[in-house]
Amino acid sequence: MLEDKFGRQFHYLRMSITDVCNFSCDYCLPNGYQRDTKKSFLTVPELNTLAKAFAGLGTSKIRITGGEPSLRKDLTEIIALCASTDGIKHVAMTTNAYRLEKDVQRWFDAGLNSLNISIDSFDPHMFMSITGHDKLGSILRGIDKALSLGLKVKINAVLLRQYNGNEMSRFLKWIKDKPLTLRFIELMQTGDNLKFFKQNHISGEPIKRDLLEQGWGQVIRDKAAGPAEEFNHPEYEGRIGLIMPYSKDFCASCNRLRISSVGKLHLCLFAEMGIDLRPYMQQADPAALQQALVELLSDKEATHYLKEGYTGATSHLAMLGG
Ligand code: 5AD
Ligand code: SF4
Repeated sequence: MLEDKFGRQFHYLRMSITDVCNFSCDYCLPNGYQRDTKKSFLTVPELNTLAKAFAGLGTSKIRITGGEPSLRKDLTEIIALCASTDGIKHVAMTTNAYRLEKDVQRWFDAGLNSLNISIDSFDPHMFMSITGHDKLGSILRGIDKALSLGLKVKINAVLLRQYNGNEMSRFLKWIKDKPLTLRFIELMQTGDNLKFFKQNHISGEPIKRDLLEQGWGQVIRDKAAGPAEEFNHPEYEGRIGLIMPYSKDFCASCNRLRISSVGKLHLCLFAEMGIDLRPYMQQADPAALQQALVELLSDKEATHYLKEGYTGATSHLAMLGG
């Protein structure tokens, strides 16, 4: 099992397969994706070596992320390769869901187990204003389809003072009879979004207080479950999650490592830099990759320095898929 010097175990790999995104969320890519030099993203054989190496070190869950992963034509093949890797028990994907309605059956058939979908507003106009796309209706139909297939679904909503700050009752109404988890994420500062961050960051703490006052109960979660806090309510089928990266102890439950779409290991979302592991993938050498991983993990720091305004190499989250 991959473990760092603080005793944290890493059984969860977040694998970015592209940094291209077709949405232009105001907090992430306000001017849309800017194509610089033509990048070549990890190929299927390279991803195969990567999945094998991590699985051999005790990784049991892979999340496929982006940018927007469904922009890759070979996505279904990538899901299938993860699902068929010995030791991988759970394949998840984070998506903006623009292709969900059309493709969810195909993803499910390839072995996908769960989906995280971003919806920052349930008002179609607001949704369009945040993302630049009038897709809310199709995304909601896609979610119903995913649920009916038996996929586990989580919705991510980034808390944004000037956009969805007063939509709480609408969010709550939606999960009344939906068997999924709706997670509110505190906006994080990245290299590119300082002004937006200052205008829009709101803390999750008052929301937690309100939920507890309104009869929501905090769910006791497994130590290995990751940094989200979860709440349930007898009258609601859905659960609420809160992700508060600025709260004390957030990093203590970190259970994940990230590989960028060009094969760099990021020990933290806000690490100073990524470490290039692609040569091992190109040589199809899982054993050498494993040795490098074990050595590199000793450098993982206890926490990020976001509170101090330090965002490391992360100019926006499309780079690493959150
Ligand atoms: N702060 C918080 N969440 C973010 N996401 C993207 N950028 C940020 C940010 N700066 C979210 C997306 C998606 C998830 C992967 O990360 O909305 O739901
Ligand atoms: Fe929005 Fe995610 Fe695309 Fe960023 S990567 S623009 S948050 S959909």
